[in-house]
Amino acid sequence: MKKIITIFGATGNLMYKKLFPAFSNLFKNRFLDSKTKIYLVGRKDYTLEDYLLEAKKEIKTNIEWDLLLPQLNYIQMDFSNSDDYIRLKTIINDDFTEKDKMFYLAVPPQLFPVISKGINSSGLITKGSDNERIVFEKPFGEDLTTAQKINKELWQYFEEKQIYRIDHYLGKEMIQNILIVRFTNTIFEQAWNNKTISSIQIIAKETEGVLRRGNYYDKVGALKDMVQSHLLQMVSLVTMERPKSFASDDIKDEKVKVIKQLSIDKKDIILGQYQGYKDAINIESNSATETFVFAKACINNDRWKGVPIYLLTGKSLDEKRSEIIINFKNDSSDFKNVLNNKLIIRVAPVEGVNFIFNVKEAGLSEKVVPANLDYCHTCNYLGNTPEAYEKLLLDLFNKQNSLFTRWDEIESSWKVIDEVKTYKHELFIYNNYEEIKELIVKGNEGLIDDL
Ligand SMILES: NC(=O)c1ccc[n+]([C@@H]2O[C@H](COP(=O)([O-])OP(=O)(O)OC[C@H]3O[C@@H](n4cnc5c(N)ncnc54)[C@H](OP(=O)(O)O)[C@@H]3O)[C@@H](O)[C@H]2O)c1
Repeated sequence: MKKIITIFGATGNLMYKKLFPAFSNLFKNRFLDSKTKIYLVGRKDYTLEDYLLEAKKEIKTNIEWDLLLPQLNYIQMDFSNSDDYIRLKTIINDDFTEKDKMFYLAVPPQLFPVISKGINSSGLITKGSDNERIVFEKPFGEDLTTAQKINKELWQYFEEKQIYRIDHYLGKEMIQNILIVRFTNTIFEQAWNNKTISSIQIIAKETEGVLRRGNYYDKVGALKDMVQSHLLQMVSLVTMERPKSFASDDIKDEKVKVIKQLSIDKKDIILGQYQGYKDAINIESNSATETFVFAKACINNDRWKGVPIYLLTGKSLDEKRSEIIINFKNDSSDFKNVLNNKLIIRVAPVEGVNFIFNVKEAGLSEKVVPANLDYCHTCNYLGNTPEAYEKLLLDLFNKQNSLFTRWDEIESSWKVIDEVKTYKHELFIYNNYEEIKELIVKGNEGLIDDL
């Protein structure tokens, strides 16, 4: 069967930075072939040649143009004009008879309803069809109310099984690895509870500031941009109960249950903004948008009662690092200098797992010292590890939706964020990461290291 993917917003940053490199690798590695057609849709009045001239200026990676070019077509559209959808349908229908059709909305979320409506009313997608799917980029809504409104509209046009909501963190190698590490290693599975674990840290630090994304970011901030999606997804994978099976819906059922049990107390939050943020392009001069969040979350169930879950994310910090740290308790009083065991799942930029444990120092000494079992995930891969978008696009083509978010996952995470948004917080202006770190350590009395 022929496969057709139509990308709305093909003149955007996501297309150039993520989707082109992902398609290029999928063609190079023969996951996609000449039976795949890519329709690039934008509002600019380009020919394919004009489009490619612009695209090549923006794309910074090597692209297999020889493989991609014969599959590309550029179509100019006004997204609010119903005739343009009919024209698109005619072009697509003329192309092949039997097809698998995908529509990817790489556009700002305000355009989701109008494009969805156009796709539906023109008959580009028939509700319930097994061979027609639609993809939405994040963020899905601005809060619970707007997300519900968008979703209600989408459900008029498409069935849930046709809707693929992206959280690209789920496509990352080590995020896919969380359930494997947890549920295939008895040593961890048995110890995965409040009897053995003292705390959990979920960290996503960036060195870059807002760059040229001010228009988007200033309306959103770190809580909505990072915590609502990526961080709560990580929390749910780390803390969910073992699912009935590892089928997509069973995993999602457990993820939703645990997010519904999560709460963040008002006193356990620090919001910050880096010095100089307001001088960036398209930022309001009096902006109170947070670029940093530290929060202590709790999960109110038997497994996790009493275990703090520290969430930390921000821009313009000291390093780029995303990782999950599981801190184990240590009740040993027979030896001195014993460190607590630690399991670290490294998500980015390094991918791997470290386990920190105690050994006797080599030689005649009796000193206890820490040792580090270091698994490098990238080192075991021939070539480069696939980027998140490569995996997500491939799963979309293969109708695998387990790495896409179901509506109730989005709904439950917006409830958490909406609650936090009702708190009135002072915004801490930071010149450097050390200043915030000091604040966190002071508020949590030496409880946390590896910040
Ligand atoms: N960029 C990333 O790394 C990234 C990462 C994660 C998620 N996302 C999400 O992916 C989506 C796209 O992001 P992006 O960075 O590619 O955004 P972008 O650079 O602003 O481009 C989005 C696309 O939408 C089009 N567009 C914007 N407003 C429009 C309007 N009123 N009418 C018609 N077309 C319009 C743009 O057309 P013009 O070129 O004509 O303006 C462009 O083709 C967003 O939902 C974003 O949150 C992006």
